Amino acid sequence: MTDKTITSEKPYKILFVCLGNICRSPTAEGVFQHIVKEQELDPYFYIDSAGTSAWHVGEPANSKSRQIANKYGVELNSRARKFDASDFDEFDLIIAMDEENYRNLHKMARNDRDQEKIRKMREFDPDPGNGNVPDPYYGGIDGFEHVFNIIQRSSEGLLEPLKSKIQDKD
Ligand code: 4NP
Repeated sequence: MTDKTITSEKPYKILFVCLGNICRSPTAEGVFQHIVKEQELDPYFYIDSAGTSAWHVGEPANSKSRQIANKYGVELNSRARKFDASDFDEFDLIIAMDEENYRNLHKMARNDRDQEKIRKMREFDPDPGNGNVPDPYYGGIDGFEHVFNIIQRSSEGLLEPLKSKIQDKD
């Protein structure tokens, strides 16, 4: 996934991307951050999230997303922002929640280097279903819990191979 050596001076930068940046990608940001912190690997990662739309810019994570995350001991502290092409320069890996986000990111990519940074979240899910993290926005709380569980499995699957790239760990 990466040839980059990860050190605390050069942390690995991951950007999670969905449509609104209020449900799925803030959950992924919070869950991944929580897992690396638990494993004392937080100095080696820089995590953020963004949306392909500007519809909810400035808003905190959705209240149902926060409710479910809190149930599992995870805090969601993000404020929504729109993805910008300059994010391709800043981040090592850009992870789309579904096929639509994936396609939109590819349309914004400026070159092969940008394209190669784009992946889909459920590539890292041991139980990948149809490959998409479903949009929970118009549904009930059960949908948000389903999304949380998918994101937790995928985040663990994403972190595991990256651990071997960490160099200056004692
Ligand atoms: P997200 O969910 O992409 O997971 O943040 C959505 C949030 C808002 C809308 C759609 C999806 N919306 O249509 O406003």
